Amino acid sequence: NKTIYILAIESSCDDTSAAVMCNNKTLSNIVATQKIHEEYGGVVPELASRAHQQNIVPVVHQALAKANIDKKQLSAIAFTRGPGLMGSLLVGTSFAKSLALGLNIPLIEVNHMQAHILSHFIEEDNYKTPSFPFLALTISGGHTQIVLVKNYFDMEVLGESLDDAVGEAYDKSAKILGLPYPGGPLVDQYAQLGNAKAFPFPKPKVDGLNFSFSGLKTSILYFIQRETKKNPNFITENRNDICASIQYTIVNILMDKLKKAVKQTGIKQIAIGGGVSANSGIRLALTEAESNWGWTTYIPKFEYCTDNAAMIGIVGYLKYKEQDFSDQHITAKARYVI
Ligand code: KG4
Ligand code: ZN
Repeated sequence: NKTIYILAIESSCDDTSAAVMCNNKTLSNIVATQKIHEEYGGVVPELASRAHQQNIVPVVHQALAKANIDKKQLSAIAFTRGPGLMGSLLVGTSFAKSLALGLNIPLIEVNHMQAHILSHFIEEDNYKTPSFPFLALTISGGHTQIVLVKNYFDMEVLGESLDDAVGEAYDKSAKILGLPYPGGPLVDQYAQLGNAKAFPFPKPKVDGLNFSFSGLKTSILYFIQRETKKNPNFITENRNDICASIQYTIVNILMDKLKKAVKQTGIKQIAIGGGVSANSGIRLALTEAESNWGWTTYIPKFEYCTDNAAMIGIVGYLKYKEQDFSDQHITAKARYVI
């Protein structure tokens, strides 16, 4: 059984990342985060693609150097084909195609959302991988999905957000409170110091396993406008309680749908991924679900939760074993369902 070395490239949004995998293990996983978007309060697509152009070569060099691998040893190149921002995807896609052509090795296209889920199969010390079937909750700045995972490449989206992603709800709420972008981690931090029942916010009524977060954002906005009219210092005086109340509502929305998905499928194995899985509230709720309802939950290392190339690399490895390769005609796909 030969050892497989995969170079993986991820450039779907605002992080440029390259990783080298040795079979299902990570040798290196380099992420260049783009700071430029902070001052705009969100990702500016044109600026993101320009930054990818600048970052991609140094990031790939770093990944190879850290892994102590020469590019001649590589078995294949894996890259994120979509979903994501077209300009950003184009940089990674073109780079991967050219390098695969130059090295005369196979090219492997990867669906970013599948990769978030399959990141659970990266081998790490003290990490147990889920067994099929399981439910995946993918929560980030761009995605909110509950997916039924029947096998590596047999997945079914059971529900998703009809408007804002959960990370977006966090970031937009943070913006209303005057916090810098991305505000999700800050809201989480303050929430841990506040009273979650201080300010009740309404939960949206959405059918089935779908989500909606735009209504919550609007009710937070109106609430803050109303209260600051009465007391201009309302935010500073109540910051922790406001954040705790927002967090409580968001975690409840997620947990309600997860409970529903468990009931509907009879599956009690839950794997989470995406940047919002760093959230202390959701982590606590999942841990409690283990003892209260007998769920088994899987929470990957933080570096595998946020956008990173190792998750693209594990999919590359799984596809390599199936000899599932792409050819040079492949193009990036901004909308790419699982
Ligand atoms: O997966 P990710 O790094 O990038 C994509 O959006 O794909 O996720 C970033 C999102 C941001 O919206 C950020 O505010 C949110 O994850 N986030 C958090 C926390 N850490 C990151 N939201 C709530 N609590 C956190 N601790
Ligand atoms: Zn992502």
